Amino acid sequence: MQVRLTAPFTDQKPGTSGLRKSSKQFQQPHYLESFVEAILRTLSGVRGGILVLGGDGRFGNKNAIQVILRMAAAHGVRKVITTVDGILSTPAASHLIRSQHAIGGIILSASHNSGGPDGDFGVKINGANGGPAPESLTNAIYSCTQSLDAYQIIDHSNISLDYVGTYAISLMEVEVIDGIEDYVLLMQKLFDFDRIKDFINDDFPIVFDALNAVTGPYAKRLLEGLIGVPNGTVRNGIPLEDFGGCHPDPNLTYAHELADLLLHGKQYCFGAACDGDGDRNMILGQGCFVNPSDSLAVLAANTSCVPGYSEGLRGIARSMPTSSAVDVVAKDLNIPSFETPTGWKFFGNLLDADLITLCGEESFGTGSNHVREKDGLWAVLFWLQILSNKRCSVAELMKQHWSRFGRHYYSRHDYEAIDSETAYDLYSRLELMLPNLVGTSFAGRHVSLADNFSYHDPVDGSITNKQGLRILLDDGSRVVLRLSGTGTQGATLRIYLEKYVQPTGDLNQLPQNVLSALIKEIDAYAEISQRTGMPCPTVIT
Ligand code: G1P
Ligand code: ZN
Repeated sequence: MQVRLTAPFTDQKPGTSGLRKSSKQFQQPHYLESFVEAILRTLSGVRGGILVLGGDGRFGNKNAIQVILRMAAAHGVRKVITTVDGILSTPAASHLIRSQHAIGGIILSASHNSGGPDGDFGVKINGANGGPAPESLTNAIYSCTQSLDAYQIIDHSNISLDYVGTYAISLMEVEVIDGIEDYVLLMQKLFDFDRIKDFINDDFPIVFDALNAVTGPYAKRLLEGLIGVPNGTVRNGIPLEDFGGCHPDPNLTYAHELADLLLHGKQYCFGAACDGDGDRNMILGQGCFVNPSDSLAVLAANTSCVPGYSEGLRGIARSMPTSSAVDVVAKDLNIPSFETPTGWKFFGNLLDADLITLCGEESFGTGSNHVREKDGLWAVLFWLQILSNKRCSVAELMKQHWSRFGRHYYSRHDYEAIDSETAYDLYSRLELMLPNLVGTSFAGRHVSLADNFSYHDPVDGSITNKQGLRILLDDGSRVVLRLSGTGTQGATLRIYLEKYVQPTGDLNQLPQNVLSALIKEIDAYAEISQRTGMPCPTVIT
């Protein structure tokens, strides 16, 4: 059946690997359908291909699955693999696409944004390598949306997502699988669960917060099932459509209950949380928060503890705003390190070309060549494996790491929901001023470089410009500014601050104190509080 549209679809931004909008917007007639039509017209191999479909369980997830199934059948897809209750984490989807030789996947999630009728919804497209759609594909989808005049859909009753089963819609097969199982098997290939089990059960109590989002069932099977930690170790472990009203973003602000347990309590030695769709992670020890940039460096320095990485690393990559902590480890290991723009899709080419094994972002994302997405629970298991082998606490491990490699004091300050025009003006003014900064003094140091970061992809030769304003100082300190590409209300300004202290220096200071001169100077220089009217950031990490 063809449904005619009265106007083309104009809501997708070019260059983004999907569509993330409020649930209300998604409920408008033909809204979801229009975007899905553009995907199905653009993705290569749709006719006769296999598609993976699932999401993080938020409001709209199950309904979108039914709509997409009927549209996929109308477009001649041979088979759609979807999951019980529509539950499929982003890393598990990535793995499934790869293991099932699918043409790609559609993941229904707005990641760490809140969910429910008043929250956000999203449709993400992954390619055949299991990673977020590359810009060439999303730009093609974007151009398709601009001239869309109709979509194809088949009239069919809903498919049951309650149990594992096989169904047909017209000529298309629908396989409803357990979305957890394959992922658990993959983790068992990479980690030594018996060793983790021995360590944890020998008086190393842990706690995991799934924030009422997708990782609950995965964590229960991995931690409470395979590792055998007590029931209840996984908190908020049932995926809820509105995430229980909480914001499923594992940081000190939104996962504060967990943070309180670890930072102020004595009950647990290790705590972790993941985000809405399971690709982010936060790691905590007793009285100790692990900065995500440091987490990446610690993983890179300790791969010999993990069976799946015992052969070492080909190379590592980090996003530009991520601290240079992992670069120091890469240098020590004598392997290449790459600096990419923000966003996981840039790691995909490097992983596919086998130039890197590990990669990560400061925004609580770490991953490896086992999938083509960041992977929250994988990072949690990686940490547990290192701690099990070293038989030490998180704080001890961090101490050992810094006294060997030095410490990159680091913080990110977010100013959320700023009026878009104010944010744009602030940012463009600073961009214009940057060239004049080089050679002058900033927070008492000389500015050695000030630019808008651009990336030259070593695999396909493409160049991606304007990826964030950088101010580099002669002692290795940095301030980076970016406007978020994932916020849905107004604009979000992110400021990333970094200062390196040698192994012989004072490694036990508070990051906000060490960074205070940089914080003051950038506020004055970019007129942040003055222009936004916000005296301090909304979120400090
Ligand atoms: C944010 C993070 C970025 C991450 C993205 C998707 O994007 O900063 O590192 O890749 O979410 O999880 P931003 O809102 O900064 O554009
Ligand atoms: Zn996410």
